[in-house]
Formats: sequence, structure tokens, C-alpha cells
Amino acid sequence: MATPTKLYTLCFLLLAFLFPFSNSLQLDGGKLCLPEKQASLFIFGDSFFDAGSNNYINTTTGFQANFGPYGESFFKYPTGRFSDGRIVPDFIAEYAKLPLITPYLHPGYNRYIDGANFASAGSGALVETQQGSVTDLHSQLSFFKNLARLFRKNLGNTEAKTFLGRAVYLINTGGNDYSIPFITNSSLLQSISQQEFVDMVIGNLTTVIKEIYKEGGRKFGFLSLPPLGCLPSTRALKPGNTGACFEGMTALAKLHNEAFPKVLQKLERQLNGFRYSIADGYTAFSERINNPSKYGFKEGKIACCGSGPYRGTPSCGGKRSVKEYELCENASDHVFFDFGHPSERANQQFAKLMWSGTSNVTAPYNLKALFEL
Ligand SMILES: *[C@@H]1O[C@H](CO)[C@@H](O)[C@H](O)[C@H]1NC(C)=O
Ligand SMILES: *[C@@H]1O[C@H](CO)[C@@H](O)[C@H](O)[C@H]1NC(C)=O
Ligand SMILES: *[C@@H]1O[C@H](CO)[C@@H](O)[C@H](O)[C@H]1NC(C)=O
Ligand SMILES: *[C@@H]1O[C@H](CO)[C@@H](O)[C@H](O)[C@H]1NC(C)=O
Ligand SMILES: *[C@@H]1O[C@H](CO)[C@@H](O)[C@H](O)[C@H]1NC(C)=O
Repeated sequence: MATPTKLYTLCFLLLAFLFPFSNSLQLDGGKLCLPEKQASLFIFGDSFFDAGSNNYINTTTGFQANFGPYGESFFKYPTGRFSDGRIVPDFIAEYAKLPLITPYLHPGYNRYIDGANFASAGSGALVETQQGSVTDLHSQLSFFKNLARLFRKNLGNTEAKTFLGRAVYLINTGGNDYSIPFITNSSLLQSISQQEFVDMVIGNLTTVIKEIYKEGGRKFGFLSLPPLGCLPSTRALKPGNTGACFEGMTALAKLHNEAFPKVLQKLERQLNGFRYSIADGYTAFSERINNPSKYGFKEGKIACCGSGPYRGTPSCGGKRSVKEYELCENASDHVFFDFGHPSERANQQFAKLMWSGTSNVTAPYNLKALFEL
């Protein structure tokens, strides 16, 4: 009989062949390879969660962060993450004892057994949001379906179901659906009520959640939307340049944040085994923007990297249309690293709230509990 150590070794060897580049190799005894209890991590959404997916699509630098000083404080090189260092899913992976989860589109990546990151900066739940420049949530879902098919092929239906049911699915979307039509004064947003618009965004998000459920997904994690009008970029856009938040945009985020938990409660009643976690990102952001020193920051409103009022112009790195930019001394002093994205330090605080937040902040489960289910 093989000792546990030998099985483990065998598992490693088999893993190397489990999901080869060609995706065509069949595997006998794949079962041995599944780590007994480890839940994997699948990540969907926008720039808050994008670990570099947009490095591999045909887009423009407006939707990319694969140049310095992005990445400087942790990786020491630009990875495509919109931060000076790690983003929320990186910390969640660490807390769950997983390696950093690599973009699905990364040509060299095949350790799908740990999970995959499908998130694409600039994307939204609506296909129309930055269409042609990003991977929208529905296309991210298609990638995930390909992967689920691969798991079924390699592990068999039963084992794949167990594997996908044990995994945690993090989704962060909506911010771009609301802020971009608002900034561009899109005809779509003009033609229907704000509530109807929010229902449409949440409707599309719900469709994707249900599809992941159909593939076997059971555990879902979310962060509520931030006060969208109080990001450095949107604050700078507010007419009159008074430094006030762009309240109209924040109002949409608030409507979304009120409606979405109700949908999740409904899904929990409708879908057998569906479990979720939603952390109060809105309050967490607002508190840090307004009382930075309480959370160890020196600056809550002005970004570390960028130009113009609040460094809200997306010029960080000088690779987009505006070439001149300022960079603060220490990104950890700032809640925001660039025009609309948290510093690594803020991301870590948000990830902690998602992972181990108490029930007044993260409910009905926190991510730690979801991983252990
Ligand atoms: C990339 O997108 C641009 C603009 O949409 C298009 O002109 C170009 O052909 C695309 N390139 C590739 C390789 O698809
Ligand atoms: C937005 O567009 C509508 C018409 O579609 C127009 O009446 C309104 O003045 C515009 N608002 C801004 C801020 O440009
Ligand atoms: C999803 O969004 C599209 C617009 O992209 C809209 O026509 C459709 O009604 C939405 N679906 C749901 C279920 O709300
Ligand atoms: C940046 O600030 C953080 C938090 O105040 C501190 O721990 C760190 O040492 C600082 N880094 C540098 C390079 O000064
Ligand atoms: C949640 O409760 C904890 C103590 O259990 C408290 O310290 C914290 O301020 C509360 N947070 C909010 C947002 O109410």
C-alpha cells in the first residue's frame, strides 16, 4: 500500500499532467490528485479583482496597469493589477492557504485546481460597458464554463461536482456599469429610471450567478459597491470642482447595495445549497476616505499616483493619454493608489473584512466560514 507521502507525490506528478496546455490529455486516477478539503478560488469582475487578465486581450492602456509604478511595493514589477501591490483576491487566496490565483488568460497557466481569475478591468455586468475593450462578465462566465467542462472531462462528473461545489466564487462588478454611463451621460441611463437601470445590472449579475450555480458553484463572495462618487476620479469630475463627492453617482451605488442583498436572500431560498457572503464595502470605503488616520492612513481622498485634482486623472505611469503624473512617497499612506483603486494596504483591510468580518459587517457568512463549509 502506498503511504500518504507517496500518494502526495503521485498527486503532484499527476497534477502536472492533469491540465496540460493542450487540454486534451485524459487522466486516470485523477481522484488521487484532489486535495482532500482544499477549496479553490474562482474570481470574476472588474479592476478591483483583475490580476492581469487585460494583459492578454486586445485593449488599450486605459484598461491596463502593466507598467510601473503599478506593482512596485509588493511584486517589484507591474503585473497588470491596478494597485501598488496586491489586490483583494490575493489576500483572500493567502488567507485560504492558496497560491496567488493567476488569470485564466495567462498563456502559461494550468494549475486550475487552485482556481482561476477571470476578472477584467473596465468590465461590468452589462455587455455594453466598455464593449470591445474588456471581457464582460458574461464572457468571463463562458471561460469558466470551458473550465468546468474540462474538469468534468478529466475528473468525471461526480468528482467535478464535488470540486466545483467546494470552491468559492468571488465576484466584484457593477461599479463600471454605473459610473461610466453617468460620466458619459449615456442615452441608456437617460432613457430609464435609476431603479430600472440598477435592476438591469443586478438582473445580469444574477443570471451569471445562476449559471455558475448550474455548473456546480455553491459558495459566493461579494463586496458591496463603494461610494462611487467619492473616488479621486469622480470627485475631480464633479462640476465646480468643490471637492465634494459626485452624489448622483453614489446614489446609484446605494440603490444597488440596497437591492442586491435582497436578491441574494431570494437565491438562497430558491437554490438548494446556495451560500453567500457579502461584506459592507460601502461603509469600509467611506470610513477610510473620511477618517483615514483611524485606519493608519495619512490621506483618504487624494490618490498616491496621478495628476490633477485629487490626482484623479488616470495618468499614473504616464502610459495613457496624459503623460505627466505625480507619485507619493509611500503608497501605504493613501487609501487610493490611483484615480479609482485602493492601495495594497487598503486592499488588505478590505480583504480582512471579507475573510473574518463580524456579522454586522460581513454576512450571513464571512469568507473564512464559506471556505470551511
Ligand atoms: C485590436 O483592436 C483594434 C481596435 O478595435 C483593431 O483595429 C485590431 O484589429 C485588433 N487587433 C487584433 C489583433 O485583434
Ligand atoms: C444628459 O443628456 C440629456 C439628454 O439625453 C440632457 O438633457 C442633459 O442635459 C445631459 N446632461 C449633462 C450633464 O450633460
Ligand atoms: C441584461 O442587460 C441587458 C442589456 O445589456 C438587458 O437588455 C437585459 O434585460 C438584462 N437582463 C436582465 C435579466 O436584467
Ligand atoms: C510606508 O508606510 C508604512 C505604514 O505607515 C510603513 O510601515 C512602511 O515602513 C513605509 N515604507 C517606507 C518605504 O517608508
Ligand atoms: C461591528 O461590530 C464590531 C464589534 O463587534 C465593532 O467594533 C464595529 O465598529 C462594528 N462595525 C460596524 C460597521 O457597525
